[in-house]
Amino acid sequence: MTSLDEELRGQPWIYPWRLRNGQDVRVANAELPSIHRTRAEMIEPRVRAALAEAGPDATALDLACNEGWFSHRLLEWGAAKVVSVDVREKNLQRAAIMRDHYGIAPEAMELRQLDVFAITPEDLGTFDVVLLLGLIYHVENPMGVLRLARGCTKDLCVVESQLTRQTEPVVHGLGQTGELHESLGSFAIQLERGDNSLASTGRVISLIPNRIAMKQMAEVAGFAHVEFATPHTDHNPQYVGGDRAVLFAS
Ligand SMILES: C[S@@+](CC[C@H](N)C(=O)[O-])C[C@H]1O[C@@H](n2cnc3c(N)ncnc32)[C@H](O)[C@@H]1O
Repeated sequence: MTSLDEELRGQPWIYPWRLRNGQDVRVANAELPSIHRTRAEMIEPRVRAALAEAGPDATALDLACNEGWFSHRLLEWGAAKVVSVDVREKNLQRAAIMRDHYGIAPEAMELRQLDVFAITPEDLGTFDVVLLLGLIYHVENPMGVLRLARGCTKDLCVVESQLTRQTEPVVHGLGQTGELHESLGSFAIQLERGDNSLASTGRVISLIPNRIAMKQMAEVAGFAHVEFATPHTDHNPQYVGGDRAVLFAS
């Protein structure tokens, strides 16, 4: 297990952690703080309300937690216990370092190294709030992850994704010769080279949905109410411009 000091000298971080001594960590790129601030501001009111509704023993699941920054937010916003899952040992080491740095008990933030494609909802249980941020566009089977999230959600699931700009339907011949169909929901393929430590492990085809596909997937996964969060004009341009979106599914 590495120490916080060693990690601070190592690779930059993906979240803008402010340490207890006031020091800010180095982040991997200059846009990340704005992205995380935007997501947190868009998510916080709905998540706080769902956790308050669930009461003092409210639980939350952070799927693909990376360094665990949003797991900390879930505890701040009212969860009594968070389970934080990631496939990479390195990320969970950092998550453990930050959990300990802020004096959070391991029982309040349970870190589990799991591949979301190797587990079922029964392996995790159900939670009042589930966060599924930044994952569905890094995997080959976004529906599989959404079904897992649905199976683990008691009340609210927050899904966040990059989106394509495709608004025109995609025309395809499905069925008989000469028969053409239009699909409004579509995906772009991003070929991951295998060195993207944010994507699923191995050489992956990431499927990036358009806005309609993101909504359709959540509905087909079994969520009854699905609605996009509305960004403010001063939020990160990717959200304002529609290249990323936050979806509330309940
Ligand atoms: C872009 S980061 C998103 C981190 C965080 N959820 C957020 O949005 O701030 C993607 C994360 O998904 C994790 N991940 C990728 N494939 C996974 C899988 N199959 N099972 C669990 N975690 C996975 C990566 O290790 C990485 O931490």
